[in-house]
Amino acid sequence: MSQTLREARNYEEVAEKAIGEKERPAFHLSARTGWMNDPNGFSYYGGKYHIFYQYHPYDCHWGPMHWGHAVSDDLLHWEYLPAALAPDESYDRNGCFSGSALTLPDGRHLLMYTGVVRRQQQNGGYQETQTQCLAVGDGTDYEKYENNPVITAADLPQGCSAEDFRDPKMWRTADGSYRCVVGNRPADGTGQILLFSSPDGFAWKYEKVLAYNGGRFGRMWECPDFFPLGKDWVLLTSPQDMLPSGFEYHNGNGTLCLIGDFEEETGTFTQRWDQAVDYGIDFYAPQTIQAPDGRRIMIGWMQNWDTCDFRTQNLSWFGQLSLPRELSIENGRLYQRPVRELEMLRHDRVEYKGVSVSGDCKLDRIKGRTVELELSIGPEADTDLYRKFAVRFAQNEQFWTSLSFHPGDSILKIDRKFSGSRRAIIHQRRSLVNSKDGRLHLRIILDRFSVEVFVNDGEQALTAIVYTPQEADGISFYADGKVRMDLVKYDLGPRA
Ligand code: FRU
Repeated sequence: MSQTLREARNYEEVAEKAIGEKERPAFHLSARTGWMNDPNGFSYYGGKYHIFYQYHPYDCHWGPMHWGHAVSDDLLHWEYLPAALAPDESYDRNGCFSGSALTLPDGRHLLMYTGVVRRQQQNGGYQETQTQCLAVGDGTDYEKYENNPVITAADLPQGCSAEDFRDPKMWRTADGSYRCVVGNRPADGTGQILLFSSPDGFAWKYEKVLAYNGGRFGRMWECPDFFPLGKDWVLLTSPQDMLPSGFEYHNGNGTLCLIGDFEEETGTFTQRWDQAVDYGIDFYAPQTIQAPDGRRIMIGWMQNWDTCDFRTQNLSWFGQLSLPRELSIENGRLYQRPVRELEMLRHDRVEYKGVSVSGDCKLDRIKGRTVELELSIGPEADTDLYRKFAVRFAQNEQFWTSLSFHPGDSILKIDRKFSGSRRAIIHQRRSLVNSKDGRLHLRIILDRFSVEVFVNDGEQALTAIVYTPQEADGISFYADGKVRMDLVKYDLGPRA
């Protein structure tokens, strides 16, 4: 083991002890210590779910990337393992960037990641080279492959950037060979996803451009994932520098979902549908796994590169992963629902039926910061459409975050302006939802530092981090007009 990895492992073991259990999310994975970004190497290996993540253990800012590592039996209770990779070789000395994992036929765990090298130029500037590299291990310790890097810019057609060439996602095909997709910047400066093949997972060959941006969705495409879902194929990628288009693709960094057909023999992907993956503020760079029971499960970085300044507290970790979400295609769209394992965390159920909300409303036993709320709302009388409905949470006299819905234009808004942030970053986002006659179904999952909203049973998801002091645990409702509301609440996670 290199000195760099040994130091990181020693450091994290000590630093983790300084973080109290309640200073972390109750059921989302956070950085063991220091900084976390993208999930990496999401896989099922040796009878457990493994997740790795972009990791800079030494402080709460992005730095030379390591791979942090955690395992779980149920995707919700995570146990930290020692850091898996450190930037300790000539071909990755400036960072082990994002990548993926699979199990080899001989039982070894194969990781593929992007090695980054930055060289100073004669004019004083820097030039970066990104290549794809391998490491093989047993679920705890990994050894980098002696023939690294296994894919370099020399394998690419002319015009493909050697500087923006990253985030390999591998899978094994039915005939036992391997494929991977990698994000790249073509000569026009936007993004594309390249497809590679391999007979054994070690020797890789360029196949073709699987999908090309052409200026449609942002610029460079990062963190691709490509998989079958029912009868369709799904390409997920996280474009940088998006421009909004109606209520899709808010500005900045987001995740794009393309749904279409894939002809495996020719490697041809024909896109039929595009949509945003998340309509909230903080969600990026997701990765999926096919669970042993066949479910396709996605987990993302619960953050946005433009909102990394959110922190208001002196926590010695930064960065969380989203809830793992089960994916499906319904009505031609990508649907997401929290993994069903979440139901095992529920306790203290409270139900209200037919509550009449008009003006402000609080309900007995409806409060908490680690809570699941299921709301069905509609007008009290079919002939009398209300003007606005809102639910506020993480609330006290000073702070709250709200979800508000205007049935007149079907806009659902998340707003955390008053959540305690002292930074001038984006705090609200509007999303067009599918609602008829003022009816809407919301499933809201609160953890100590986040909210995830699933609209209309998974048709849309909205995610945001919320670093409000934990004593703000109120939940209240409001209607301008008359709303009829059914509500189920559970507390989630360990009992208080
Ligand atoms: C996406 C990303 C990846 C890269 C990693 C570096 O968030 O920019 O493209 O591999 O983060 O940490």
